[in-house]
Amino acid sequence: MSATAATAPTASAVIALDRIVQEYPRPEGGVNRVVDDLTLRFTGPSINMLLGPSGCGKSTLLYMMGGVRPQNTNMPTSGSISIDGVACTDAHDDAVMVFQRYANRPDLNVYDNVAFPFRLKLWRDRIPSAERHDKVMHMLEAVGLADKAKLLPSQLSGGQNQRIALARSLMLRPRILLMDEPFGALDAQTREEMQKLLVKLYQEYPCLIVFVTHDVTEALLLGDRVVVLSTQPARIADDFEIATPKPRDSGWLRMPEAAALEQRILSRLHQAAGKGNVRVSV
Ligand SMILES: Nc1ncnc2c1ncn2[C@@H]1O[C@H](COP(=O)(O)OP(=O)(O)O)[C@@H](O)[C@H]1O
Ligand SMILES: [Mg+2]
Repeated sequence: MSATAATAPTASAVIALDRIVQEYPRPEGGVNRVVDDLTLRFTGPSINMLLGPSGCGKSTLLYMMGGVRPQNTNMPTSGSISIDGVACTDAHDDAVMVFQRYANRPDLNVYDNVAFPFRLKLWRDRIPSAERHDKVMHMLEAVGLADKAKLLPSQLSGGQNQRIALARSLMLRPRILLMDEPFGALDAQTREEMQKLLVKLYQEYPCLIVFVTHDVTEALLLGDRVVVLSTQPARIADDFEIATPKPRDSGWLRMPEAAALEQRILSRLHQAAGKGNVRVSV
């Protein structure tokens, strides 16, 4: 779908999920209802954390919003998704996804990985050729990789690879950024650096971010809003806003406000009991 092809993207956007049900076939027969009658609306610019135990259906929901659908499966089973009031039945031009496995091309250097979208007609049409080099270099500076432009992804660390993916995504100034546990595979210190970097970049390029995580601490550090999902099937267990300005640091995490929110999330998940784990990382 190309609802706004060739127009300059603006930062505001609305994603509406209406009465979403998702069932997957079970290998032994029958179906597994992963999401049950879920209605949710995200309005940007803002950072919205979708927090829930592993296996609860977070990626399923995010992929639906991004128009990424498994073959031979109706997605959603019932209900509807719209972006800015237009039914979303396929990948949306203004929704860019970032995955845990950062999806960098191993055969292209850092510069070419960030510039990769310009191989697609959509982005060549949107961004004039005279502006492209500056955009790539600006993003490489912003993520601290300007001096690594000629290196291959295999010559860089996991954190640096995720920086490439972030630079590639934000270089497009997307109205919607859908992030699926993007820092989940990183060590604690690198994850913290990336969280800070995301806040900095978001403040420079505000957009509607839906950020999936099973890490309570990450949700508290990054979220303007936190939607807590229960598991088997996923339903909304809690939904609240955090007005505390960002960046939020480890000092804030030890304050009563943050400690109370952490307790609130854990108790809601406990009430909604099910399989799967959330993580609290400090
Ligand atoms: N294409 C699929 N076919 C069958 N089952 C699936 C498929 N994708 C996900 N599932 C199942 O749906 C549940 C939710 O998966 P997922 O959305 O990946 O959870 P999360 O991202 O919260 O860890 C899991 O039990 C998973 O095994
Ligand atoms: Mg997932």
